[in-house]
Formats: sequence, structure tokens, C-alpha cells
Amino acid sequence: MGYRYATERTDHSALASGQVLRSAPGFPGFPVRLASELLQRAMVHLEDGGIRLWDPCCGSGYLVTVLGLLHRDLLTHVRATDVGADAVGIADRNLELLTAEGLAERERGLRRSARDFGRVAYIERAEAARDLATRLAEMGGDLPHASAVADVFTLTEPVESDLVITDVPYGEMTRWEGNAPQDPVRGLLASMGRVLPARAVVVVTARTRRVRLPEGVQALERVKVGNRSAVLVRARDLASAL
Ligand SMILES: C[S@@+](CC[C@H](N)C(=O)[O-])C[C@H]1O[C@@H](n2cnc3c(N)ncnc32)[C@H](O)[C@@H]1O
Repeated sequence: MGYRYATERTDHSALASGQVLRSAPGFPGFPVRLASELLQRAMVHLEDGGIRLWDPCCGSGYLVTVLGLLHRDLLTHVRATDVGADAVGIADRNLELLTAEGLAERERGLRRSARDFGRVAYIERAEAARDLATRLAEMGGDLPHASAVADVFTLTEPVESDLVITDVPYGEMTRWEGNAPQDPVRGLLASMGRVLPARAVVVVTARTRRVRLPEGVQALERVKVGNRSAVLVRARDLASAL
């Protein structure tokens, strides 16, 4: 497979939150290297072919947009949903960066700011947007995407995604909202088991020592990096156990 391993020393500065991708107070970003590692680990458990990626607690959409830009060649669609309308508004603007036109528009805006404010930092950011556009074109061009406001706990309609990667609220900057049950991670996993195809892989990550799985649910794999941990599970196992 043609993907780059996370251990490779790639310069991800163009992807830093607030450079080309948009950030906002109260919307945490996600470590780029870990995002890439989680996607590559999940790929081992998925069949070859284009992957449809979904983050059902997407916040600013930073995580899935970074993955779209880094791994365009592996993905055929990116979906981002969140219970918060403000979050989805920012996610929309980030997902637009998965297209040549979105990146060109971002580059033009940053060059305008460079002129208006006379700050060289904007020129560097404009050039980063241009470089991302070049890389996106080399890796397959525009990546189709969709976003929506949705409470992850009340989903009922099937979602045709192959891979979910989601960074759940951990109480510092973000909290569980909507119809959160007593054990929100269990509720999220039950929803995923309900709406995803059986073969899909679900990756849940949080700023915690260990993402706890409900009794009876087997992990495909666990990952621990710094103050974050993640667990990979098969949707079929969630559907039968929860
Ligand atoms: C840690 S943040 C996600 C950050 C995101 N991965 C990023 O890269 O920007 C967790 C998100 O979960 C969302 N959330 C909380 N309760 C939710 C629910 N019931 N359904 C969907 N999203 C929810 C919050 O609005 C918040 O945006």
C-alpha cells in the first residue's frame, strides 16, 4: 500500500491548527501524527479500496480534514457530524480545504490579509495553502465530503462509512451534549453498531489513560501515545454485544 508510516519524519507544520486549517476558541485540535497513525492502524483491519471516513463528534473538523489532506489517496469520502451547529459551521469551512477551489480561496484570503495587515506570516500561510493544493492534486484531487448537525446518541439511519475515527469530549474544552446516557462511550459505540456496516472499524480516542470498553466488547487493537489513548473495534462486534 502506498501510505506513509507515522514514524516517518514528515513536516506537518502546514497542517497545524490555525495555519491553513481554521480553529476557534473552545475547539481543540488533534495531534497530526497520532491521527495519521490511527488511520494507518485501522487500514490493517479494512479491505483494500477507497475508505469512507466519518467523525461523528467532529468539532471543528480538524481531525478528518487533516486525514483527508494527508491520506487523500486512501479515502473516497469524508463525513463530519457534531451536535453543535457552531462546530459544524467551522467543520464545513475546513472540509472545503479538501478541494482545489477551497484551498485556492484560502490562499487568496491569506494573501489579502498579508496585504491589508503587512504581516509576513500571512504570506507563509498562503504558501502553505498552495503547497497543500499541489499535494492534494498529486494524490487524487478533490475529496468528496459532507457535514451535518447530528446527535451521535440518537442516530437511526444507516451510515455508509468504512471507518470512524473520533476524539470524544474529555471535559476540559468540550463536554458531552445532546441525549448523553450515563456511559456516553457505551452510547456512542451502541450507535455505531446500529448504523454502520458490519465490516466497518470504529476508532475512539480520548485524553485518558485507557478508553474503557463495555463488558463483552473485544478490542481489535489498543494504542497509547502521551496523554491520549485509543481503541479500535469492529462495528459487527458492537452490534452483537450492545
Ligand atoms: C474533543 S471534541 C472533537 C475535536 C475534533 N476531533 C477536532 O479535531 O476538532 C468533541 C466534540 O464532541 C461533540 N459532541 C458532544 N456531544 C455530542 C453528541 N451527543 N453528538 C455529537 N457530537 C457531540 C462536541 O460538540 C465536540 O465538538
